[in-house]
Amino acid sequence: MVSRCRECDVRDDDWAEPDESEEDWRMYDFYSDTKTKPTPEMRQVVLDCGVGDEQKDEDPTTTELCSRVASLLGKEAAVFLPSGTMCNEIAINVHTRPGDEVICERSSHVVNFEAGGPSALSGVMINAMDGQYGIFDEDQLRTAIRPASRYAPKSALVCVEQTANMGGGSIWPLERLRAVSAVAKEAGLATHMDGARLMNAAVKTEVSAADHADGYDTVWIDFTKGLGAPVGAVLAGSNEFIAQAWRVKQRMGGAMRQSGIVASMCLYALEHHVDRLADDHALAADLGARIADLSLVERVLPVATNIVIFDMAAEAPAAAELARALAADDIQVGAFGERRVRVVTHLDVTPESGDVLMERLSHHLDA
Ligand SMILES: Cc1ncc(COP(=O)(O)O)c(C=O)c1O
Repeated sequence: MVSRCRECDVRDDDWAEPDESEEDWRMYDFYSDTKTKPTPEMRQVVLDCGVGDEQKDEDPTTTELCSRVASLLGKEAAVFLPSGTMCNEIAINVHTRPGDEVICERSSHVVNFEAGGPSALSGVMINAMDGQYGIFDEDQLRTAIRPASRYAPKSALVCVEQTANMGGGSIWPLERLRAVSAVAKEAGLATHMDGARLMNAAVKTEVSAADHADGYDTVWIDFTKGLGAPVGAVLAGSNEFIAQAWRVKQRMGGAMRQSGIVASMCLYALEHHVDRLADDHALAADLGARIADLSLVERVLPVATNIVIFDMAAEAPAAAELARALAADDIQVGAFGERRVRVVTHLDVTPESGDVLMERLSHHLDA
């Protein structure tokens, strides 16, 4: 049995490998969609993929992946990167100059989970706005953009997150995305979309990823979330932007060699793991409805995609305590704050594992 949960407070240093079979372990890990392990079929494609030196544009599989993603996102070009975090940080670096200001929603990944990257790597300030479920509107943006002044930082870039992770996997409506980018453009700001879970939004809304990203100068998708690949994200934009992004990638040591080994699994994910995101959404909706019925649950954020975030009443155990108690039964959930818990559905969990989660949640949260 696993004796500890992976983490209860967004730390990465407390990980115990399971000593039970991998199969059992995967079934109950609702901590994040980053926890998926490559399927046997996905692993198989590595054997036959073409490889070369990626830094010299000689890796055919990576080149194919970038061109597929550029066209999926409606952009001219794209670059393969090890992680979504690097996509955000490189985009910020290219779009800004030290002393500039980046406007984001307060709960966003850029603000909370990138180790202060925007200030450390690009010397920019963050103007964090309070949205609803991770989503702000064009009026808030208009107010946040600073008039040009020799005293003030320059508002240079607006970032949005589609879907908004800590907003409960909420989906920015298309009209809102367009209105926000129009205000940004009118004021001369660049626009960037963190698309870690953009494909979830595309599947749920049946609107193409390119349409979601229209009006955004740069956008990326992550292969290590619901798409189930082990490594990789692709950042897309204009030819000129990608040329600059490549320089920053090189500077940060992100250039790779025979990256087709991992890019092949990303291509497999694009072909086989997009449509099935609808299953994750259905399971999350079901779990969200059942969690809302537990007597010690105060509220469940609206469930739009594959993320269920809920707040517990004062009489309930603290979130970290609940996460630890569940971990004793080999069930992983995320504790974010004193009373807030996150449950994420993905490729490696099933309705049956959802039933097991619900049985244990009922035990702790139904008085
Ligand atoms: C919304 C969002 N953006 C960015 C990232 C970072 O992606 P990566 O883990 O690939 O660095 C994550 C990761 O969970 C995320 O949820």
